[in-house]
Amino acid sequence: RTVYVNGQYLPEHEATVSIFDRGFLMADGVYEVTSVLDGKLIDFDGHIKRLHRSLSELDVAAPCSDEDLVAMHRELVALNNIDQGMIYLQVTRGNPGDRSFVFPPADLPPTIVAFTQDIPNLADAPAAKTGFRVISIPDLRWDRRDIKTVQLLYPSMGKMAAKKAGVDDSWFVEDGAVTEGTSNNAYIVKGNRIITRQLSTDILHGITRVAVLRFAAEAQFEVEERPFTIEEAQNADEAFSTAASIFVMPVVEIDGKPVGTGKPGPVAQRLRELYLDEMR
Ligand code: PDD
Repeated sequence: RTVYVNGQYLPEHEATVSIFDRGFLMADGVYEVTSVLDGKLIDFDGHIKRLHRSLSELDVAAPCSDEDLVAMHRELVALNNIDQGMIYLQVTRGNPGDRSFVFPPADLPPTIVAFTQDIPNLADAPAAKTGFRVISIPDLRWDRRDIKTVQLLYPSMGKMAAKKAGVDDSWFVEDGAVTEGTSNNAYIVKGNRIITRQLSTDILHGITRVAVLRFAAEAQFEVEERPFTIEEAQNADEAFSTAASIFVMPVVEIDGKPVGTGKPGPVAQRLRELYLDEMR
């Protein structure tokens, strides 16, 4: 793989970041994951906008212009011959050359790295045909989940809890209601209505969420943005998750109970098709 680090394209084994990097020592950095279909970036404008929001919430300088970001992403796609897959982009507060809780001066250049992941069957992932089974676990993350930081230890533990339980993912629950999945937004379907938690600092503002809710409204579904409980989700007609890495993923079981028929439902499948058709 050819990867990108601070302005250079390098073979992955030659790319390095300092041990003093704030991203490494403090999880002081943000990231974006953009999917690639047919060699094209999906919804990259949305990802750039959210990157800027995450950076400005943390007072980290933008690492380069948007034009340079787009060009760099396209270059990585080309250099690595990616037809389907993902690009991971990370920007940290940089390398102050030592460890300190105090932020370094604002003129310290941020660290920027990016790499591709080649996933030839991303669009027709086998999991989309069977759906995700999920468990619920308490949401023990910090209170600014709207900032896409690289502080992913708890989501990673959530994924491991799911694996240990023999299922695919965990949905986080706080104050009795679902916030989101370990790395995706969560939805339920009741009749013609699609229900998903409203935007706030409690959840990441998914880029896929924006597009899926727009396609849902255009397809005459009602969209209701409000919290829902695990019990309501278990008794819904369908459930699903969205993220750049999974597009629309049916959720067929929650805490051992089947949702609806226990198979991917027509609404989730239709929204997945709409998303892939429209965004491709
Ligand atoms: N995760 N919620 C959380 C906590 C996420 O980490 C993600 C994305 C989403 C969905 O956002 P989007 O639709 O913009 O991908 C929601 C990425 C894919 C990841 O960490 O790999």
